[in-house]
Amino acid sequence: MEARPTLVFLALETTCDETGAAVLEGPRPPARGVPRVLASVVASQVGLHERFGGVVPEIASRAHVRQIVPMIDEALRRAQVNLGDLGMIAVATRPGLVGALVVGLTTAKTLALALDLPLVAVDHLEGHLYACQLAFPDREVYPCVGLVVSGGHTSLYACRGPLQCEFLGGTTDDAAGEAFDKVASLLGLGYPGGPEIERATRGGDPRAFAFPRSFLHDDRLIFSFSGLKTAVLYALRGPNESFGAVQPSPQMIADLAASFQEAVVDVLVAKTRQALLRTGLKRLGVGGGVAANTRFRERIAGLASDCGAELFIPPLALCTDNAAMAGIALEKLAAGDVAALDIDVTAGLVRPGRSSGQGEIFSVRPDP
Ligand code: KG4
Ligand code: ZN
Repeated sequence: MEARPTLVFLALETTCDETGAAVLEGPRPPARGVPRVLASVVASQVGLHERFGGVVPEIASRAHVRQIVPMIDEALRRAQVNLGDLGMIAVATRPGLVGALVVGLTTAKTLALALDLPLVAVDHLEGHLYACQLAFPDREVYPCVGLVVSGGHTSLYACRGPLQCEFLGGTTDDAAGEAFDKVASLLGLGYPGGPEIERATRGGDPRAFAFPRSFLHDDRLIFSFSGLKTAVLYALRGPNESFGAVQPSPQMIADLAASFQEAVVDVLVAKTRQALLRTGLKRLGVGGGVAANTRFRERIAGLASDCGAELFIPPLALCTDNAAMAGIALEKLAAGDVAALDIDVTAGLVRPGRSSGQGEIFSVRPDP
């Protein structure tokens, strides 16, 4: 029987606290092209973690175990595809919570072995940027500056292609999303903090508090958000007050939230400007949960237009964690990068480009 001209494949995401499964269809290698998302479903674990104000790794792993098979069933059902139609199993194997990653990888290995299919392991951060290409399949996203702003990462890359992203710089402490989550907790708002802070900014004055913007005038492409978090704590506590002694008014919460959000956005925009100027790249791809933030989206669009750069920013469902972005696996399959069945997960950050021995890709020149 002749092989279909297209390849239908399953993609899995279990790096943190979202259990995702997606079915995609793209050109069968050696033909190249961007896959189409036939179905993408995500089971959020927010309800399980919110009372702790953050993700509890063991709870996340157990929830992935419960959710992964129902999510796969649901994605296949929505895509109207059977297991027998699949031609590849893709899974995010790095970076993330080790116990959470293991659930996705074990499931993917089992399916690949049982169905005799190639297993392709992808990098979650490369996937966040590839979400831009999925969202704009008819446009060339690469080469671009890539900005990943998520709960665990705040990183800038120079990406020559989907699998050739050179790390330019990242946070030295908290990630931007982590700062949103921690500040939301200080302000007595819910979890995850990003959407809660965004809601709380309504009616708030972004100039009410002069919060620090770390490394704003520093040439290095590095971020720091932990001082900002502490500054919010001190502003909330007030001089000589012990924490919790004064109940902040709704207006004060709104002002704190708006001033905090503006400080984060100022830094993200300024560092991205530096990255665009240094690399000379004229395309900008943005991914990760914080890219769902309305103020951030407005300001980054303004930056792109100032710099004459084309902006690629996915719709909200492709910004936050999802399995469709593991569709970058089709690029890997085309490059012959199939994983062995004894592959393991990598919890820590592996800098794309360096891990694969590609070294420096772009010569980064100083600001003109
Ligand atoms: O990419 P993501 O779904 O998961 C990780 O890979 O970390 O990002 C989650 C992060 C959380 O910290 C969450 O608070 C933040 O993205 N986030 C937002 C918004 N929506 C989600 N931050 C700011 N504004 C939002 N609207
Ligand atoms: Zn993510």
